[in-house]
Amino acid sequence: MRYFVVAFTLCILGGCGGFFLKDEIMKERSPEFWIKNAQQDLLKKLTTKLNLNKAKRMIFFLGDGMSIPTVTAARIYKGQMDGLDGERDSLSFENFPVLGLSKTYCVDKQVADSACSATAYLSGVKANYETIGVSAHVQKNDCLAAKIEKNQVESIAAWAQSAGLSTGIVTTTTVTNASPAGTFSHTSNREFESDFDIRAANKSLEHCEDIAKQLIFQNPGSNFKVILGGGRANFLPNFTKEGNRLDNLDLIKHWKSSKKSQANYVTDRESLLNIDVENTDYLLGLFNKGDLDYHLDSGCIQPTLEEMTEAAIKILQKNEKGYFLFVEGGLIDRAHHMNLAVKALDETVELSKAVQKAVDLTDEKDTLIVVTADHAHVMSMAGYPDRGNLITGIGTEMSPIDHLPYMTLSYANGPSSGHYTHEGHRDDLRQVNNIGEKNFEFPSLVPMEIESHGGDDVAVFARGPWSNLFSGVIEQSDIPHFMAFAGCVGNGLTLCSLDNDMK
Ligand SMILES: *[C@@H]1O[C@H](CO)[C@@H](O)[C@H](O)[C@H]1NC(C)=O
Ligand SMILES: *[C@@H]1O[C@H](CO)[C@@H](O)[C@H](O)[C@H]1NC(C)=O
Ligand SMILES: [Zn+2]
Repeated sequence: MRYFVVAFTLCILGGCGGFFLKDEIMKERSPEFWIKNAQQDLLKKLTTKLNLNKAKRMIFFLGDGMSIPTVTAARIYKGQMDGLDGERDSLSFENFPVLGLSKTYCVDKQVADSACSATAYLSGVKANYETIGVSAHVQKNDCLAAKIEKNQVESIAAWAQSAGLSTGIVTTTTVTNASPAGTFSHTSNREFESDFDIRAANKSLEHCEDIAKQLIFQNPGSNFKVILGGGRANFLPNFTKEGNRLDNLDLIKHWKSSKKSQANYVTDRESLLNIDVENTDYLLGLFNKGDLDYHLDSGCIQPTLEEMTEAAIKILQKNEKGYFLFVEGGLIDRAHHMNLAVKALDETVELSKAVQKAVDLTDEKDTLIVVTADHAHVMSMAGYPDRGNLITGIGTEMSPIDHLPYMTLSYANGPSSGHYTHEGHRDDLRQVNNIGEKNFEFPSLVPMEIESHGGDDVAVFARGPWSNLFSGVIEQSDIPHFMAFAGCVGNGLTLCSLDNDMK
C-alpha cells in the first residue's frame, strides 16, 4: 500500500532535511485509527494456526550485527526512502508470526564476536571468542587443540547432509568469513581464511588448517551444492593477479575437478543470473577478491543478496528430500564498525529483500525460515525527533546544556570519535555538509579504530513449521537444536524421533 503523502522539507534547524507526512499523521489523531489497526492485528493473530509439520526446507538468515536498534532504524529508513510513513513501515521479516530474543554472550566474553556466535547458532554449542566450530576447550590460536576431533563440533549443515538434505551458503562477505565458516570449519582463529593469514600470524602451517582449504577438501563444505559470496583471493595462488595463497594451490580448480556432476563456477552477476538451473548441480560463485561491495557502492558486476538467495534456492530445491540454506547479510556489521549508519541500514534493507524473495519462493507449510543476528552493535536512537524526521538526519531537539542539535543515530564508540568536537566542545552539526550521506560517519563517543559490537540481546524472527519454538528469551545455542527438531536432522530430539516413540 502506497500512502498519499504531502512531503515537504521541514527546516526548523536550518540545514537539516526531513519530511512531514501530514495527512497520515493527521489520521492518527483519531482514536478509531488505532482501534481499527489493533483489531486487525488481533484478528491476524487469532487466525494464525500452529504449524506442526515437518520442516522439509530450512533457511537461516543472519544479519551480521543486526541489533534491535538497527532493525528499528532500517524499518524507518526503508519507509522514508519509499516515500511512506517510516515509523509504521516494516521489514519483510517483521511480519513473521514469531519473535524471540537470543542471548549472545560467549564462553569467555560478555560481548560476542561473529566466530563464537556462529558456533553457537550453527552448532548449538557456545565457544570462545574468535574460535569457530570447536568447543570452549579450544583457546584462541591453539591450532593443535582445534585439530582434536573431540574438540570439534558439527554444524546443522553437517546434520542436514547426514539426513540426505542439500546444503548451501550465501554471503556478502568472503565465503571464508566467520559467519559462513560456522557452517563448515573448525579453527582456533577466524582470521585463518587462507594459508597466507596463518603465515602472517607466525603460526605453523603444519598445525593450522586454513578455512578456504577446509571448505574445498573437508565435509561438510566439500559437499555444499551452493557457495556464493566474495573472497576469491583466499582460493588462488599468489602468483595469480588476485590470489594470496602461498601453497600454490588453485582451490577453485580443485573444487571443479572434485565434482562428479555438473559444476559451475561464476564470478559476475550476469553469469549468475543466466545460470542453467536444470544443468547445475553444484554452484560456486565468488564475485569479488574480498568482501562484496556495499550495495550503495556496487555497480552491476556483483549480484545482490536477493539475487544470490534466489539462485541458491532454485538449485537446492531440486532435492526432493529438502535442504538447509544459510544466508548472511554480512555488511551490516562492516558498516557499523566504521560508524557508517546509512550503509548499515541500507544493507539491512537488502537482507529484508532477500528474506522476502525466500518467502515468495517457498511454502510456509514445509519451509522454516529463521532470521536473526549474531550480536548487537553500539548504535542507539536518541530522543526526541519529531514524527517523520529523517532517521539518518539531525534530530529536532537541542541539547539544553550546549544548545546544539544532535543526530538521532549515534554510537557509543568508533573511529568518528572526535571528528565533530573541538577543544572539548561539540561542533554545530548544521555546518557539516555531508550529513546523512552514505559515507557520513555518525558521531561516536569513545575513540576506537573500529566501532565495537554490543552485548544486548538480538531478535529471532521465525516463520513456518515449529516457528512457535523460537519465542521467549533463549540461548543463542538453542537455535540450531530447535531447527533440527523441526527438520528431523541431527542427533538430538527431533519431531521424527518423537513420532517414532509414540508409535
Ligand atoms: C611475526 O614475526 C615477525 C618476525 O619475527 C614479526 O615482525 C611480526 O610482528 C610477527 N607477527 C605477528 C602477528 O606476531
Ligand atoms: C608468493 O609467496 C611466496 C612464498 O611466501 C613468495 O616467495 C613469493 O614472493 C610470493 N609471490 C608474490 C608474487 O607475491
Ligand atoms: Zn563485527
